Amino acid sequence: MFSDKYGPWAVVAGASEGMGAQFAKQLSARGLKVVLVARREQVLTELAATLPGESKCLALDLGTPEAAARIAAFTAGLDVGLLVYNAALSPIGPFLEQSLEENLRAIDVNVKTPTALAHHFAPRLVKRGRGGLVLLSSLTAFQGSPFVSTYGATKSFNLSLAEGLWAELRGQGVDVLSVCAGATATPNLLKATRKAPPGMQQPEEVVREALDALGSGPMLIPGRFNRFASFLLRFLPRRATIQIMANQTRKLQLPS
Ligand SMILES: NC(=O)c1ccc[n+]([C@@H]2O[C@H](COP(=O)([O-])OP(=O)(O)OC[C@H]3O[C@@H](n4cnc5c(N)ncnc54)[C@H](OP(=O)(O)O)[C@@H]3O)[C@@H](O)[C@H]2O)c1
Repeated sequence: MFSDKYGPWAVVAGASEGMGAQFAKQLSARGLKVVLVARREQVLTELAATLPGESKCLALDLGTPEAAARIAAFTAGLDVGLLVYNAALSPIGPFLEQSLEENLRAIDVNVKTPTALAHHFAPRLVKRGRGGLVLLSSLTAFQGSPFVSTYGATKSFNLSLAEGLWAELRGQGVDVLSVCAGATATPNLLKATRKAPPGMQQPEEVVREALDALGSGPMLIPGRFNRFASFLLRFLPRRATIQIMANQTRKLQLPS
């Protein structure tokens, strides 16, 4: 059963809305107790009240150097079987017009903290001989992604880290999955888009597919449209796929 392998506790980093809130809801519905982590405490508390099972809330900024240590301390007395790292920061716009600070913050939230958390939880999962790590990546992981260049690079990191860990941990009862989502109707994406991107999925669908695929890593592209499009893009020259990404990201609300 899902909860026997990945329970009793799951940590969802970036749990207050969209896909993160869906992970919390669906994990709770599958019988796991959930630690909800995000910056907005009130939103987390309201979400926790709707969950069928036990949960705990931890309000913190995942872009701070002490974030992973704070999560480690908060969960020290809990038997954590699953980490879902969902939060991400995505600076949008021409690289030359973005602040260096914002780009480095994206590396903190999207790269440093998930690495530190994987490093903390993986040995504990191995010791238990069962558990899972889910790192959210994106279709931007597969090629350079103009106008979200740093974000895209962090998503390549998430994919690569998850695939490496998948191979290292698979013989030890620990499932690792990178979820390379395409456009998903989360509040963040809806704020940034003028027009629904092709193949856009609902957060519920992406999360259901991800949890169902957890034992079949290393990588999932949710949604038939996204799988088909990614398959076709493999046959194009790299320059062409980067240009296609540029055309897609240009439709995002670029700062004027
Ligand atoms: N939406 C898409 O179209 C899409 C496509 C491909 C990949 N993805 C990936 O899917 C994941 C979720 O995407 P999404 O952005 O649409 O988000 P989401 O799941 O709707 O929400 C992001 C969550 O992360 C939390 N968060 C963000 N920055 C944080 C920080 N510094 N510290 C703590 N919590 C933080 C937010 O809560 P607070 O604001 O309360 O902190 C929120 O709960 C990301 O990894 C993204 O790369 C999304």
